Amino acid sequence: MEKIISQLENKIKKLFHKESSGHSIYHLKRVLNIALELQKKEGGDRLIIGISAFLHDIHRIIQKETGQFCSGKDSLPRIREILNEVELSLEQKNKILHCIEFHEEYDFTKNGQTVDDIETLILQDADNLDAIGAIGIGRTFSFGGAHGLPMWKDEKPFDQKLYDISKNDPSTIHHFYNKLLKLENNMNTKTARKMAHQRHKFMKKFLKQFFAEWKGKK
Ligand SMILES: [Fe+2]
Ligand SMILES: [Fe+2]
Repeated sequence: MEKIISQLENKIKKLFHKESSGHSIYHLKRVLNIALELQKKEGGDRLIIGISAFLHDIHRIIQKETGQFCSGKDSLPRIREILNEVELSLEQKNKILHCIEFHEEYDFTKNGQTVDDIETLILQDADNLDAIGAIGIGRTFSFGGAHGLPMWKDEKPFDQKLYDISKNDPSTIHHFYNKLLKLENNMNTKTARKMAHQRHKFMKKFLKQFFAEWKGKK
């Protein structure tokens, strides 16, 4: 697998060259590492999990290039092209594309959870773990900065019940409430739930301090 990942890295690293909004090549590498850790305890096909983790966010790059919303599903033709250049069976490629297509469906989104294969469930968990905790806080603020979002708008209510990835949050702090704080209860595997608990606690502590400082109280 390491050989295929390094071949893929050579093919995709140019695409991610200018990416600084939280979906950089380092996000792909972190998700790969988390996914492989989860696989050790939870099982599933290690190769499928590793490769789909490493290619899961190509749609973010397409979105940046075109300026149009692009889902995981929309990125599948591009990923198939990339996969055609490495040695994998058709069945393996199809399985990888399946994991990527469904990696952003969560219990609290409109369609809800629709798949139950362990490879996709682990990819979702790994991707969601990289969205929370210290890394999650850093990524959320750099995403907000790259998209011109203010840190916080205290006049805007938290009114979004279902998370809709195609709608922008009014501020970075809103994103914590609309999505990030919901992720702990959305983990699919036991191992990820344990990791998520630590990261969740850290974000809550951060938010408490943030609001205290916002009011000049600390
Ligand atoms: Fe994604
Ligand atoms: Fe991701």
